[in-house]
Amino acid sequence: MTGKVAIVTGGASGIGLAAAQALINDGHKVVIADRDAEVGEQAANLLGALFIQADLAQREDNQRLIDETVAQLGSVDILVNNAGFQHICAVEAFPEDVWENMLAVMLTSPFLLTRYAWPHMKNKRWGRIINIASVHGLVASQYKSAYISAKHGLLGLTKTTALEGGEFGITVNAICPAYVRTPMVDKQIAAQAKTQNISTQEVIEKVMLKNAAIKQLIEPEEIGAFVSYLATPLARSFTGAALAMDLGWTAQ
Ligand SMILES: NC(=O)c1ccc[n+]([C@@H]2O[C@H](COP(=O)([O-])OP(=O)(O)OC[C@H]3O[C@@H](n4cnc5c(N)ncnc54)[C@H](O)[C@@H]3O)[C@@H](O)[C@H]2O)c1
Repeated sequence: MTGKVAIVTGGASGIGLAAAQALINDGHKVVIADRDAEVGEQAANLLGALFIQADLAQREDNQRLIDETVAQLGSVDILVNNAGFQHICAVEAFPEDVWENMLAVMLTSPFLLTRYAWPHMKNKRWGRIINIASVHGLVASQYKSAYISAKHGLLGLTKTTALEGGEFGITVNAICPAYVRTPMVDKQIAAQAKTQNISTQEVIEKVMLKNAAIKQLIEPEEIGAFVSYLATPLARSFTGAALAMDLGWTAQ
C-alpha cells in the first residue's frame, strides 16, 4: 500500500472504473463516487474500493464527498474528476436545464472538488489532480455545445490550478481522449445508427474515427494506465497540460 487516498468520480462505469482499478492495482486506497448507487456499490465491492454515493450536480454532495473521504480514509491525495455524460442536440433546441446540469457535473464539480481537496493536498505538499476532459476540450463538433463548452472550461481550470499548485507540490493535468469504448459511447453509437439509418460499424468508422489517424476505439484500460502514471512521483514534471490521447485527431 502507498498510503495515498484517491477519489474517482463517475467511477462506477467506463473510464472511471478503469481508473479506479488501475489506482487500486498501484496500492492506493480508492473511493468510487457516483450517482448510481447500485452499480457503484457493485463496482466498489468487486475492486475493494469504498463507495460514496453522490450527485455531483449538487454542491453539497461535492463537499460531503471530500468530508466523508477524509473522515473514513484520512486524506485526499489524488483526485480524478471523471464523471460526465453526453447530450446531443442542435443549439437552438438544446434544453436549458440539461445545459445547466452538464456544466454542473463536468465543470463546476471539478472546481468544487479541487477547492475542497486543496487544503488537504497543500498540507502534505503533495497532490495529483487528473481531469478527464476530451478531445472535445481542444476541438469542436456539431450538436455538442454544452459538452464541448464544459470540456473547454475544464482545460481552463486545469491550467489555472496547475499554476497555483506548483509551489505546493500539487500537479493538475487533463487527459483529452478521442472516442473510448464505454457505455456512454455505446449509447451514442446506437443513437446515431438509428438517426442516420446506417450500421453501428459505419457509425464507428465514418463518424467516430473520421478524424483519427489510428482507426480504432480507445479502450478504458488505456486511460486507466495513463491516470496511474500521472499519479506517480515520476510524473511530477507534468502540470497544466492538456494531454491529447486522440489517435492523431488534433495532429492535422
Ligand atoms: N467515452 C468516451 O469516448 C470519452 C471520450 C472523451 C472523454 N470522455 C469523458 O470521460 C468521462 C467518463 O465517461 P465514460 O465514457 O466512462 O462514461 P460512462 O457513462 O461509462 O461513465 C460515466 C459515469 O459518470 C457517472 N455520473 C454521471 N453524472 C453524474 C453525477 N451527476 N454525479 C455523479 N456521477 C455521475 C455515471 O453514473 C457513470 O457511472 C466523462 O467525463 C466523459 O466526458 C469520454
